[in-house]
Amino acid sequence: MLSIFKKATPEALESIAEELRVRKTKHYILLFSMGSQFDHLIVQQLAKLGVYCLVADPATVTADDVKKAAPAGVILSGGPAFVDNDPPPFDKSIFDIGIPTLGVCLGFQMWAHYIGAKVLSGDKREFGVHPFALVSSDPLFKGVPKSSLVLQSHGDAIHPGSALTILGTTAHAPVAAGRHKHLWGVQFHPEVSDTEYGPLMYENFVNICGITDRFPAHGVAKAKIEELSKQVSGKKVLIALSGGSDSSVVAYLLKEAKPAGLKGIYIRGIDRPDDETFVREYFASPPAGGWIDVEIVDATEKFLTALSGKTNMREKRIAMRDIYKDVLEEKIREYHADFVAQGTLYTDLRESGMGHATGAVIAEIKVHHNTGIAFSVPELIPLEDQVKDSARSIGRDVGVPEDLLVRHPFPGPGLVVRIEGEVDAESLRIARVVDGIYIEELRKADLYKTVWQAGATLTRSVHTESKGDGAGLGRVLALWAVWSVNGFTARFAQLPYDFLEKVSRRITNEVREVGAVVYRISDKPPATIEWG
Ligand code: XMP
Repeated sequence: MLSIFKKATPEALESIAEELRVRKTKHYILLFSMGSQFDHLIVQQLAKLGVYCLVADPATVTADDVKKAAPAGVILSGGPAFVDNDPPPFDKSIFDIGIPTLGVCLGFQMWAHYIGAKVLSGDKREFGVHPFALVSSDPLFKGVPKSSLVLQSHGDAIHPGSALTILGTTAHAPVAAGRHKHLWGVQFHPEVSDTEYGPLMYENFVNICGITDRFPAHGVAKAKIEELSKQVSGKKVLIALSGGSDSSVVAYLLKEAKPAGLKGIYIRGIDRPDDETFVREYFASPPAGGWIDVEIVDATEKFLTALSGKTNMREKRIAMRDIYKDVLEEKIREYHADFVAQGTLYTDLRESGMGHATGAVIAEIKVHHNTGIAFSVPELIPLEDQVKDSARSIGRDVGVPEDLLVRHPFPGPGLVVRIEGEVDAESLRIARVVDGIYIEELRKADLYKTVWQAGATLTRSVHTESKGDGAGLGRVLALWAVWSVNGFTARFAQLPYDFLEKVSRRITNEVREVGAVVYRISDKPPATIEWG
C-alpha cells in the first residue's frame, strides 16, 4: 500500500490501482498535507463517507503527477505556515487543472493568494468555536443552516475585496468560506467535531467531485456476513478479543453470521490498563455485551517465563507470539472450536511480508503477533482485505460502539515493545501505570482524539534522582505521541508544554521508579512509531 503519494511513478500508480481494487471503487481524493494536526481527521471523515483518501506530499507532487494519478477531488489541509512570507512548497498549477479542490484554512489561503486575493495577518487571532453565517448559497453548504458553529484556528485572514465569491463569514474572518470556479475554501476546520455541520460539508464536497461509487461499507459488511454465515453455519468459532477496534469489528460480523457457538478469549498479561475493562464492558456483560461468551485468560506468568532473559526486541516479539499461539490452541481444544478468528488487517499482513495483491516481494518490517501462525484449525480473517479506516467503516455499519472504534491502535505484542530490555513483573507494572496516567491526562485535556497514537516507553537508561528520601537512580521514561493518517508515516505531535509538564510531574511524583521523563520528537520515517 502506498503510504504517501510523492511522484506518479509506475509503482505508485499501480499501488493506487491496487488500493482502489481492494476497495472496489474507481474514485478517490488526494489530500495535500500541509502539516495540520487534523489531517487524519479529514481522512477519517472521508472514510466514514466510504471515500478513499490518499495523502500527497506537497513538496514533490507536480500538476503532471496529479493529472496521471487522476483523483476525483483534491483537498489542501491546514498547516502552521504563513502563505505570504513562508508558504509551504506546492505546485500552484495544480489549481489550474480543473479538478474540484477544497482548501481548508491554510489550504484556502493558498489558492486565494494564487488567484490574487490578499491574505492579511489578522489583528485578532481566532481560536475556538465561533458562529458562522452563510451569505450565499452554494452546493458546498447544501442543507447547512444560515447560522451554525465552526471551529476556527487561524491568525491570518483573506481580505474581502478579492476576486472570489464570499460564501460565509465569522466575526473575525470576513471570508470564512469562499469559492472561485472549481476551487472552494473554508477558513475553519470542518473535520473537527466542534464544527456542527462538518460531516455534511464533506458529503457535499464528495458529491461535487462526482464520487458516486463510494467504497460500499454497507455492501462490504453484508457480503462479509453472508460469506461468514456459509462458513460458520453449524460450527463453533473462537475469537481472540483485544479490546481494540479490529477484533471488535470481527466479533460483530460473527455475531451477525450466527455460528453454532461463539466464544471470545481475552489474554491478560501484556495489555494496556484499560483493555480488559473495554472487553468486559462491551462484550462480557449487558447492556452492550452478553451476546458472546467471554473468557479472560491470565497468561502473565507464561509471558514472563517466555520473556525471561530476553532483551532483543525481535526475540521478545517471537517469544510473545509463541505464548499467544499456545493459549489460543489450548482454548481451541477445550472449546472444540472449528475456527479461530482474528482481526488481522491487510496492512498487518503487508508489513509482515505477506501482501498478496501485486505479487511483488515485500520486506518483513515487523514480526506481527497475529500473522504467520499455524493453528490446528482454519483461521477466519474477514478483514484481511481491509485497511484501518475501511475496517472502521465496516464496524460502524454493523453497530460497533464508537468508543471501541476510535481507540488508539495498540500493537499486538503490547507492552513488550514498550519496555526496553528484559520484561519482568516490575517493568510490566510500571509500564501499565505510566500508560494509564498518560492516556488519562490526554483524555482530560481533550487531546486523545487529535492524536493518532500515544505511548510511554520504559527505557533502559537511568537518571539520577533526588526524591526527598535521598539520591538514587530512576528509569528514564520516554513519552511519545504522533499525528498520522494510517501509521505508515507519522509526525511527532506538538503537544503543549504545560500538558507535558503536568504529565511529567504526575509520573515522577506517583511512580517512584521513574527518575526522569523525556518526550520523543522524531518523525516516521526515519523512526518507527513503536520504540521496538
Ligand atoms: P511502527 O512501529 O511499525 O508501527 O511504526 C506502525 C503501527 O503498527 C503498530 N504495530 C503493531 N501492530 N502487531 C500489531 O498488531 C505488531 O506486531 C505491531 N507492531 C507495530 C504500531 O503500534 C503502530 O500503530
